[in-house]
Amino acid sequence: MTTAPTIGPATLTDPETHATSDPHALWTWMRAHAPVHWHPATDLPAFWSLTRHADIRAVYRDTSTFSSARGVLLRPAKAGDDPGGGLTLALTDAPRHKQLRVLIADWFNTRAVRALEGYVRSATRAVLDRTTGTPGCDFATDVAGRLSLSVISHILGVPDEDHEDLYRWTNEAFEAHSSLVAHPDIVGYFMELLYRRMEKPAGDLLSALVHGTVDGELLTEEEAVLNCENLIGATENGRLALIGGMKAFLDHPDQWQRLRDDRSLLPSAIEEILRWTSSATHSMRVAVRPCEIRGRRIEAGDRVVLWLPSANRDEAMFIDPYRFDVSRSPNRHIALAAGEHFCIGSTLARAEMRILFSELLDSMNAIEPVGPARALRSIAVNGPESLPVRMTAG
Ligand code: HEM
Repeated sequence: MTTAPTIGPATLTDPETHATSDPHALWTWMRAHAPVHWHPATDLPAFWSLTRHADIRAVYRDTSTFSSARGVLLRPAKAGDDPGGGLTLALTDAPRHKQLRVLIADWFNTRAVRALEGYVRSATRAVLDRTTGTPGCDFATDVAGRLSLSVISHILGVPDEDHEDLYRWTNEAFEAHSSLVAHPDIVGYFMELLYRRMEKPAGDLLSALVHGTVDGELLTEEEAVLNCENLIGATENGRLALIGGMKAFLDHPDQWQRLRDDRSLLPSAIEEILRWTSSATHSMRVAVRPCEIRGRRIEAGDRVVLWLPSANRDEAMFIDPYRFDVSRSPNRHIALAAGEHFCIGSTLARAEMRILFSELLDSMNAIEPVGPARALRSIAVNGPESLPVRMTAG
């Protein structure tokens, strides 16, 4: 692309850009003409934008130069530093990050996810049973939202009878675009469950957070609750990948038919959904020492923002990047980040996609839109927040 797009780099920080216009036209232009771009301060602090796959991957992997501890998302300057800074898995640097990750990783590794597959499958069938035969449903909330929340709740150790409450509270928080820690019911609920697990551990992740140690010390109550909140918040990405994947198939029915005809394409289809949807819109890092990227000097203390959907459409990495192709190979997307902070929920997210889409292929004769999809207004995550569909079993 040689002509400048109608919107400029400054609009990247406006949630409206991501909801109603096409940031890809802008990112394509930035990759070609301004791959390391300085944004002066507005209500957000000043930052550098990176849009090329190679640069973004390099920053993710260089954890000795780029810190996560001051936050991994852009926040208005007046909001101050992220309350999870230095406390939650995503917002901790080495060496503490590694120890915290070891504590949590057992619940998300390949073996754990394999053991969980029966639960994911029955949760999937339960959400689909509630929606089939109805004149329509919202795939975003009724299918993907319910499914991803019940799976993470199960892992954390939330009793089944409380899933509905948690589902309602997290929906309220997501709809208000507010953090889960700002929702008093969620914090109150986890504090109470945490005290129950202190007295009587169960074999769940919350018990591990309460009884496990980092540097020989137990986590504080605040750390345990913030990590629960962080894990639930992180599943919003998984939910958006499920919804975005469904929307991609509705927009490209030929690709749904290819998958129907040849199920061996499912693994590559999942990677393509991850690349195509890139539901995490950005990650932020703060440089802890001066460095250079493509000849631009980054000072210690500078914020660097990595635009993931841009990396995943980079023509230097992908052939025909704007084509949704369920057989794409190779597919070196970085939707799940790279390096030490590589998404801990990646195996789980892939399993949820594999199970949901194979259940849909097995049990649904037709899936059709019954209203317009509505995109999220956010600069942190992207995808449809509403996707009305009618599903006909057969
Ligand atoms: C398709 C779905 C998903 C996408 C696209 C995604 C994306 C990402 C990205 C980009 C990061 C790096 C953030 C950063 O360091 O700046 C990350 C980290 C993380 N993700 Fe995911 N994620 C997904 C699903 C999940 C799920 C289902 C969970 C479940 C718990 C999860 C939990 C986490 C956690 C805890 C981290 C922090 C890891 C660390 O810092 O060591 N994610 N994810």
